[in-house]
Formats: sequence, C-alpha cells, structure tokens
Amino acid sequence: MADTTRSASSQLGSALELTAPVFSILNSLIEERIGLSYTLQDRDLLASKLSLRMLELGYDSPLDYYYFLRYDSASQSEFQLLVNTLVVNETFFFREFASLVTLVSHYAVPLGSAGRTLRIWCAACSTGEEPLTLAMLLEQHGLLDRVELVATDISSAALARAREGHYGRRSLRQVPSPELAAKWLTVTDNAVSVKPGLRQAVRWQQLNLLDAAAIQSLGDFDFIICRNVLIYFRDSVASGVVRALESQLRQGGALLVGVSESLLRFSSSLVCEEKAGVFVYRKANP
Ligand SMILES: C[S@@+](CC[C@H](N)C(=O)[O-])C[C@H]1O[C@@H](n2cnc3c(N)ncnc32)[C@H](O)[C@@H]1O
Repeated sequence: MADTTRSASSQLGSALELTAPVFSILNSLIEERIGLSYTLQDRDLLASKLSLRMLELGYDSPLDYYYFLRYDSASQSEFQLLVNTLVVNETFFFREFASLVTLVSHYAVPLGSAGRTLRIWCAACSTGEEPLTLAMLLEQHGLLDRVELVATDISSAALARAREGHYGRRSLRQVPSPELAAKWLTVTDNAVSVKPGLRQAVRWQQLNLLDAAAIQSLGDFDFIICRNVLIYFRDSVASGVVRALESQLRQGGALLVGVSESLLRFSSSLVCEEKAGVFVYRKANP
C-alpha cells in the first residue's frame, strides 16, 4: 500500500510542473502563514511535497490547489496536513546536550533554589526529544516538580508522536549521559520509549511561531529554548519571531538558540552572554 502511494506520488511529482509564477505565489502563501521559505533551487523539492498532498485530494493543477488553500474556508485542515509534510522534524535525544546542561546548572538551578516555580518554554520542539531531555536534567537537579515546562510545535503529527513517547532507534544516536538514558528510556532493538512520568511533566501544545497572539497567551517565561528553527526563516521573519519571544521573557530570563545560530544580526535588547562555552541571550534587569 505504502509502495503504491509512493510510486503514484512520485509519478505525479515528476509530472507536476511548478512554473515559476505558481511556485512564487505558493511560496509566498507558505511563508506568510508559517515562515518557511523556499528558493528557486528548491522548486523540485516543494513540487514533490505538494504533489503528495495534491494526489490525496485529487488535484492535478498546482494553481487550483493554491486557490483552494488561499481562498477556501474549508482548507484549514488541508493546510495543516501540508504543513506536516513541509516542515523538517529532525531532532534527537541529547541533541546539543552541553547547552541544556549549562542552561539548567548555571541558570535554572540558582533561580529555582530561590523557591519560585520556573516557567520554561521549548518552542519548535518537534517530536519532543528536546524538552524530554531537558526534563531529565531538571529532575536530576530536583527541579522538575517546580518547573512548568511547555513544549510547542506547529506540526500536529510531530506533537502526536511526542505525546505517545515512542521513537525509532535514530532518536538515540548520541548518548552523552547513559545514566539519564537508562533512567528514563526503555530501549529495544528497534524502538525507544519514554517513561510516562517524563512525558506527563511536559505540557504539549500546538503553536505557530508567527502567531503573535498565541505566543502572548502562553504568558511569560524564565527561559525560552528555540533551537534549529530560525534557520528555516528569512531574516525579516526570524527577527519578528525573536522580538515576539523576547517580549515573553521575564526580566533576567534567557533565550537559548541552536549552537550554529546567532541573534547578533537582529536588533534586540537581549544581551549575549557566554557561560561554559554556551551562548545565551538574556533580558537584562532594568
Ligand atoms: C529541525 S526541528 C528542531 C527541533 C528541536 N528544536 C531541535 O533543535 O532538535 C524544527 C521544528 O520547527 C518546527 N517549525 C517550523 N516552522 C514553525 C513555525 N512557524 N512555528 C512553530 N514551529 C515551527 C517544525 O515543525 C520542526 O518540528
């Protein structure tokens, strides 16, 4: 069945002609709604992703599909399915582990020991391995009970996987802390499962980083982790997202981005600070 679908979609994919003007309007629609943007060199990639969805719906014209997405009020659920196809959900347990260790030991522990409940938001958490790794570290420092940990992503499919807590072995391709892995993960030949207590410590929620009102409704946070997603946005979009995140940070709070990402080219009042080789962006106390 899967093979039939694949071969049919690749047939359509190869037959699907995404002309430059139609590529351009579809690309604008996608960027306007979710921030992702494709260059002309990615035209075939976008065409193959679109063809999967068009095949499901029986469209053979990308322009008709565009009109449906743009103007038909019944297209919301289809747009979500398209989003699930477009996004890159690459993530794994213990990814960029040193940054999370530093965030917890140098920032969360001192703040948490003051007795106050901390609020931490993992934005663009994909299938959840990142907030689950963070939850392991918080528990190791006796903080998990005193943290409200919110994890969000735009992909409903990724969040469904996060809520279930079942993964393939590739989710555990690096194990810098065998003790934490042994404590929280059940590993078999081809699967990794998360202990329910850990999954339940995270509040999973769907959220689009371009939706300023939804971001505001999350409330304010001591720490925001937003890693390996801004790279998919053009600078104009990424700087808007950074501003929205910044406004949700409490005074003295910190934003953590991916190790290969920098916010220095964006105008922001956040102050870049280095601790144990890890860069965080702090909201300075007034
Ligand atoms: C490469 S993953 C990064 C996952 C994790 N943060 C990490 O570093 O391992 C990028 C994630 O960003 C999400 N994403 C892309 N555009 C988004 C948007 N506009 N709003 C929220 N999440 C988005 C994707 O669904 C995907 O799960």
